Amino acid sequence: MSGPDPARNRVLLLNGPNLNLLGERDPEHYSSATLADVERRVTELGKELGVSVTCAQSNHEGVLVEHVHGARGMLGIVLNPGAFAHYSIALRDAVEAVDTPCVEVHISNVHARESFRHTSVTAPVTQGYISGCGITGYELGLRAVLRSTTERFGGAPSS
Ligand code: DQA
Repeated sequence: MSGPDPARNRVLLLNGPNLNLLGERDPEHYSSATLADVERRVTELGKELGVSVTCAQSNHEGVLVEHVHGARGMLGIVLNPGAFAHYSIALRDAVEAVDTPCVEVHISNVHARESFRHTSVTAPVTQGYISGCGITGYELGLRAVLRSTTERFGGAPSS
């Protein structure tokens, strides 16, 4: 006898390269919060919203691709691809392939920075995109991914 699928209640919080250095890396752009702070805040918000948050970070493109594959069947993905947003077609294709709603988050306002950061190859295959809201962007991302799931499956979105 099979029980309820635990993946159905899970959201993946996935951070890409160099985001393990949050707190010490360029605090003017990325604040002084650490990755552990981000993961704690999103996990706590998840509890309030009734979802379990699985956290992962990698500096390696293929590992990120595999984490995205692992999110098949989950409620959603909150993804900060880091610099891979700007050029990783492999990560883009993974997000597109899994059909799990994904919201892309950038801590800094990438559009107010160098021109090479203005393009995201991943954003077109996500449900939404948040940039420049600091680490609060991750919490907004969780709310947005859940809302997009509700809308996608036809429920009434909570305001
Ligand atoms: C970032 C923006 C990217 O351009 C950069 O390469 C990062 C962090 C952000 O969160 O603002 O690593 O994704």
